[in-house]
Amino acid sequence: MNEKIAELLNDQINKELYSAYLYLDMSNYYDDLDLDGYSNYYMVQAQEERDHAMMFLKYMQDNGLKVTLKAIDKPDKVFENVLDPLVIAAEHERYVTSLINNIYHEAHQAKDYRTMKFLDWFVNEQMEEEDSADTMINRYKLFGQDAKGLYLLDQEYMARVYTAPTVAE
Ligand code: FEO
Repeated sequence: MNEKIAELLNDQINKELYSAYLYLDMSNYYDDLDLDGYSNYYMVQAQEERDHAMMFLKYMQDNGLKVTLKAIDKPDKVFENVLDPLVIAAEHERYVTSLINNIYHEAHQAKDYRTMKFLDWFVNEQMEEEDSADTMINRYKLFGQDAKGLYLLDQEYMARVYTAPTVAE
């Protein structure tokens, strides 16, 4: 496999683990506010990000590529109100989409059809990730700014449960 693609795949393990860290930080922020539903939502999100990292790692292992684990950055976002993490999450997902698109672009250039096929799952996933993040913002703006509305949203987010990703082998 093209060295540049292998490096980008390796980097993506780190980026996905950073995403898990960022979402854990958000989960902690909401936990401190006793918004347990929002806290749960981002805890589940962190678990999904860890899965994404493992999917990249496994793909590298299965292709005989050497994985180099690197230090994960400390999450350094500052949250000043209930809306901040929601906005930062949406921005972050758009950034992740750009990373996936970049690997896809390199794979396409290199005629690395296997990696393109592997990445297809992530291309679809990023559409869902952006959509969910935008919905979180919009619903907060619509309903979350009075106490009862926020309470009901928080209750709803309490119901989110982790499910392992389904990927065609
Ligand atoms: Fe791993 Fe939220 O994308």
